[in-house]
Amino acid sequence: MNAIGPFFRQHARKTLLAATLALLGSASFAQTSAKLKIGLMLPYSGTYAALGNAIENGFKLYLAEQGGKIAGREVDIVKVDDESDPSKATDNVNKLIKRDNVDVLIGSVHSGVAMAMAKVAKDSGTLLIVPNAGADAVTGAMCAPNIFRSSFSNWQPGYAMGEVMAKKGIKKAVTITWKYAAGDETVRGFKEAFEKGGGSVVKELNLPFPNVEFQALLTDIAATKPDAVFTFFAGGGAVKFVKDYAAAGLKKSIPLYGSGFLTDGTLDAQGADADGLQTALHYADNLENPKDKAFRLSYAKTYKLQPDVYAVQGYDAGQMLGIGLRATNGDATKKAEFAKAVEAAKIDSPRGAFSLSKAHNPVQDIYLRQVTGKENRLIGVASKALVDPARGCKM
Ligand code: BEZ
Repeated sequence: MNAIGPFFRQHARKTLLAATLALLGSASFAQTSAKLKIGLMLPYSGTYAALGNAIENGFKLYLAEQGGKIAGREVDIVKVDDESDPSKATDNVNKLIKRDNVDVLIGSVHSGVAMAMAKVAKDSGTLLIVPNAGADAVTGAMCAPNIFRSSFSNWQPGYAMGEVMAKKGIKKAVTITWKYAAGDETVRGFKEAFEKGGGSVVKELNLPFPNVEFQALLTDIAATKPDAVFTFFAGGGAVKFVKDYAAAGLKKSIPLYGSGFLTDGTLDAQGADADGLQTALHYADNLENPKDKAFRLSYAKTYKLQPDVYAVQGYDAGQMLGIGLRATNGDATKKAEFAKAVEAAKIDSPRGAFSLSKAHNPVQDIYLRQVTGKENRLIGVASKALVDPARGCKM
């Protein structure tokens, strides 16, 4: 009896262990053999529609290079048009997670939408890669081990352009932008560097997103007579602003500068009114590094379009997803392993290789560009390997 008891107990333990391992193995196999579901939450309508399309194009180009699979898994993309509307964002992202059971979220363009996505991702633990929105909080106060950005923080191009304009000896600037996180934070970054460099912001002008009734504000700029204007607008709003600025006769008298979204993906529509404008951004049209050359060629062949910064960010969101998932054999639930791989990676981006900060925001060169014809041409590096301050991030 005494000898049989321990024998049975040991045998039962072994059987239980084997059964548990088999169960775990088959769960993990089920996890990684099914299609990888990606929720693509982007604007496909409104002033940022072209930005959403370019991000999707870039992401799909990466996917095509991988033979349509990421880390060996077939991919199923569920798309949502978020309309750049923060009031619909929480519902939209919850539907992707709860109804569509996505494994990974990619989105969005608008900072307010991305903050709602980040809150849900943080609470639910779902992997999130932000392929544009610069909301400082996403890699600041809301930072989390499962949230990554393939783009920039709003602070980055604003700060870099503030340094450039102060170095040019510009003393008095007026800022003009949409009143929401992207505009406010870009201007804050600009002001921080510009005033540190000896300039002063004499007036901060705003209008609600996505309004484009600029006339009264342009009249105010003309009356204020600053040395220069600094602005954040993007997409359809940027096209209208650049055209209205020129039509008001201001382009000749008060130099206009901006974060580079002012002239990225917009030059066909802006035409000669954009010619000569200088902006700061983490991409330019003539970087000429081998990765960029190959990317531009392949993008142009596939879409019969020239790529812009948004396409690059979509492509790099794909690269980051690929790096993370290869480290987990395609299992999106292994978040610590995913994060470790992405954190250690040097991402071979068309913008130039970059790595992520501790808060998961790109540490990257911010280029000074000038519009020449249909290109944002590189004229210098505004800020080398610029690290976002990640204010409030505890990770
Ligand atoms: C934003 O809302 O963060 C944003 C939108 C368009 C271009 C850049 C930033």
